[in-house]
Amino acid sequence: NGPKELIDKLHKNQELSLEEWTELIKNRTPELSEYLFELAREERHKYYGHDVYVRGLIEFTNYCRNDCLYCGIRKSNAAAHRYRLDEDTILRCCQEGYDLGFRTFVLQGGEDGYFTEERIIHIVRRIREHFPQCAITLSIGEWKKDSYQAFFDAGADRYLLRHETYNPEHYAKLHPPILSAAHRQQCLWDLKDIGYQVGTGFMVGAPYQTPEYLAEDMLFLKELNPHMVGIGPFIPHHDTPFADQPAGTLELTLFMLGLIRLMLPKVLLPATTALGTIHPKGRELGILAGANVVMPNLSPTEVRKDYLLYDNKICTGDESAQCRHCLERRMASVGYQVVTSRGDSLNI
Ligand code: SAM
Ligand code: FES
Repeated sequence: NGPKELIDKLHKNQELSLEEWTELIKNRTPELSEYLFELAREERHKYYGHDVYVRGLIEFTNYCRNDCLYCGIRKSNAAAHRYRLDEDTILRCCQEGYDLGFRTFVLQGGEDGYFTEERIIHIVRRIREHFPQCAITLSIGEWKKDSYQAFFDAGADRYLLRHETYNPEHYAKLHPPILSAAHRQQCLWDLKDIGYQVGTGFMVGAPYQTPEYLAEDMLFLKELNPHMVGIGPFIPHHDTPFADQPAGTLELTLFMLGLIRLMLPKVLLPATTALGTIHPKGRELGILAGANVVMPNLSPTEVRKDYLLYDNKICTGDESAQCRHCLERRMASVGYQVVTSRGDSLNI
């Protein structure tokens, strides 16, 4: 089977074997990508039309106990300027977002010991009381199942936790030994079991990544069948062990977006900030490859430059006070419109 036949097969069956995924990823060409994106848009329009959902991202702490080798806020980075937002500031970010039309908030942060289970519960409860019709998404790393359950009971309804890479050997090359691929994946199964709408994903072009590893990621996504899949290029951060590693490419990231849309036609698929960082039109191109979500930054502008996972991150300067409107214009420029509903996943 040639690569075009593999895309047709994927389109028809929504799945491929490990060997087929590997072949397809290895043998991609620009012409093939165009063909893939056309099919991906067709699927996306079938379920989500030309709507683009927005999620207001609040980066509420950059303290982190973990030491992931790729990440700029890893604990070993002594040069990182650390901050955390207090509860009232977080609530104010939500209010500002609400007034701008957001109906989904994503609280993302490092694994910060200050934010204990009790403190997270308290914050989630307050947001739930103030904004009863909004979706509350947490993206705060690995916890015990009991804690996930407690956050859920307090009113959180979605959780983002990228599996980063399915392959355990690859995972071990990107993380300190205390973290494991198996535990990360167990967290995702726990979250699903509790009833969260779950988002997972990986970095494209992470150091040591191979087409085989990406093929394993695709099989894992198929098995987990998440509500959302967040992928973006790896981008080096100058104060990490991977400072000199090459960034993932726009081309491969877009190709993977198209493949994910064909495999999970109803999934929510963000065009990420990292994609917008490696190319000025990265997010627009992501939408044209099958993505249907964008996540404008709602963090206070004075802390944005400190939530630096990788170098040259966009939306960190004063000009970005209202990413909401910037993205609205950007989406309109390629024929899509930002909508202000909760944007629940149809992939259930
Ligand atoms: N601490 C939480 C967690 O681990 O899920 C949420 C924050 S974590 C910084 C969010 C995501 O940023 C990670 O899942 C990772 O995929 C991505 N990320 C970290 N460093 C990156 C880099 N150098 N380039 C691209 N993405 C990166
Ligand atoms: Fe943040 Fe454009 S989306 S400045």
